[in-house]
Amino acid sequence: MGAPVAALLLVQLLVPVELEMLGLQDQGRLFPEPCGHQNIYPRIVGGKDSVLGRWPWQVSLRFHKGHTCGGSLLNRRWVLSAAHCFVKHGGPSKWVVQLGEPSSRPSLWNLWAFYHRYKVQDIIMYPHFKGSSFNDIALLRLTSSVTYNKYIQPICVMASSFEFQNWTNCWVTGWGHIRENKELPPPYTLQEVQVTIINNSRCDYLFQQPDFFYRIGDGMICAGSEDGSHDTCKGDSGGPLTCEKNGLWIQIGIVSWGVGCGRPNRPGVYTNVSRYFGWIQRLTADSTPKPDPFPLLLLLPLLWAAPLVQLACAQLSP
Ligand code: ARG
Repeated sequence: MGAPVAALLLVQLLVPVELEMLGLQDQGRLFPEPCGHQNIYPRIVGGKDSVLGRWPWQVSLRFHKGHTCGGSLLNRRWVLSAAHCFVKHGGPSKWVVQLGEPSSRPSLWNLWAFYHRYKVQDIIMYPHFKGSSFNDIALLRLTSSVTYNKYIQPICVMASSFEFQNWTNCWVTGWGHIRENKELPPPYTLQEVQVTIINNSRCDYLFQQPDFFYRIGDGMICAGSEDGSHDTCKGDSGGPLTCEKNGLWIQIGIVSWGVGCGRPNRPGVYTNVSRYFGWIQRLTADSTPKPDPFPLLLLLPLLWAAPLVQLACAQLSP
């Protein structure tokens, strides 16, 4: 077998190994590019004003120019949100995504806010979303690629969120009402509130107290506080419920529904993102960055060198 052939075989052998390694790093977590980094360290109901850059994946979804729902940035082309946001307003052309801006109603002079708006190419609701609270998840493909900066970064998603049960370092963010029937006042600054993840059986139990009954399905996850002091509300839908794990922020829920806002024994109910991990991964895969070509390029000189080595050997041999 000639040296060029051997070199070629080596390349063929090594390339899949390299790709496989990249794939393995990805398993159970979206995406290969860095995600979940909070660059700034510092109502929703019971919350407070957020600081620009603290939630760099937070998105304001705007229908006919006004804030309608929240969302989160998964990568340069994809935004995650709740399916129920799009039931009445279908077409992607009427929607705009605003990133890296703390106000849901920036002034006309705020060129930064207008510069960081992106158009929506497709709205993909989960196939089995029946217009109710089940499978309340949707993906939005943007028409152009998002430019990241200190204030615009993607969030991580994991295949399992089991470990986050009873976790307390979780937060929800949004521009929704600050109490039942009470809108967020000017200057409409993004609100943040810390919530506890309530396991499904406990949540089921709470919802029966004193007389209401609603089954919390597997595709849902509850968060808030049992006394109702920390909750999301109307207008927060589609926004992210995130938890910090080893310095990395992971999105485990999407604001979906509730009974009123901030009521005792009625925690907020969120779509359990990890249940839809496969679906998200499949749809968003086409825009994940190609593997870094640099290590592969290192192998190219081998291809060049092989014939020369063979030549030298031929000349040296008796
Ligand atoms: N469905 C609401 C929306 O469209 C979100 C309600 C959340 N409610 C709650 N109590 N956590 O914005």
